Amino acid sequence: MIEDNTDNKDNHDAEHEYDGIKELNNPSPIWIIMLFFITFGFAGIYAVKYFGHPDNGMDQDSEYLTAVKEQKMSMITGGKGSTLTEAQMKVAGGKLFQEKGCVACHGGHGEGNTIGPNLCDNYWISGCSPENVVLTIREGRPEKGMAPFKNSLSEAQINQLSVYILKSLQGSNPPDGKTAQGELCK
Ligand code: HEC
Repeated sequence: MIEDNTDNKDNHDAEHEYDGIKELNNPSPIWIIMLFFITFGFAGIYAVKYFGHPDNGMDQDSEYLTAVKEQKMSMITGGKGSTLTEAQMKVAGGKLFQEKGCVACHGGHGEGNTIGPNLCDNYWISGCSPENVVLTIREGRPEKGMAPFKNSLSEAQINQLSVYILKSLQGSNPPDGKTAQGELCK
């Protein structure tokens, strides 16, 4: 049964009457008001986390770039002639780094010296994409003093060296590292 509460003050009469039409004051239940304010809080946290927070890597652009980078990295680890796991590639690459003369220009553990740049920081002269490392080793930078290695290394070996550089050296920042050159990559 529907009650007629229109004349009952206790029942939320807002005391506004226009042409015999009364306004009732029926506040929403407290839980729905709380829910309303919770959405404010949620929106605030969401905006900071996914748009605003400086450099937390969770905005769409950064997520896109990370995904592209991971994809390119997987093309190196799973690239041509590769039958090794990533961990095995790091070891093989580390060995090649010592044996193939990279140490002469990049230092015993990639820290850089007067000739070649530091490979242990997060700065890259050739740009942030992992395939630039592959390209640099394969084609060299003849005009800057690094010869191409495509004739003395197989594609698989170039990939192993690249994995070693990108996964073991990059970001290891040894104390004796050469001053950073190039672009900061994340
Ligand atoms: C004769 C000296 C020399 C040798 C040997 C050498 N490099 Fe380099 N390498 C350089 C120089 C100089 C650069 C900087 C090129 C530039 O300024 O663009 C460089 C750049 C690089 C880069 C790109 C760095 C960046 O910041 O973009 C990588 C990766 C690299 N070398 C790997 C290797 C590997 C792996 C080997 C061994 C297979 C090797 N290099 C051997 C001199 C050398």
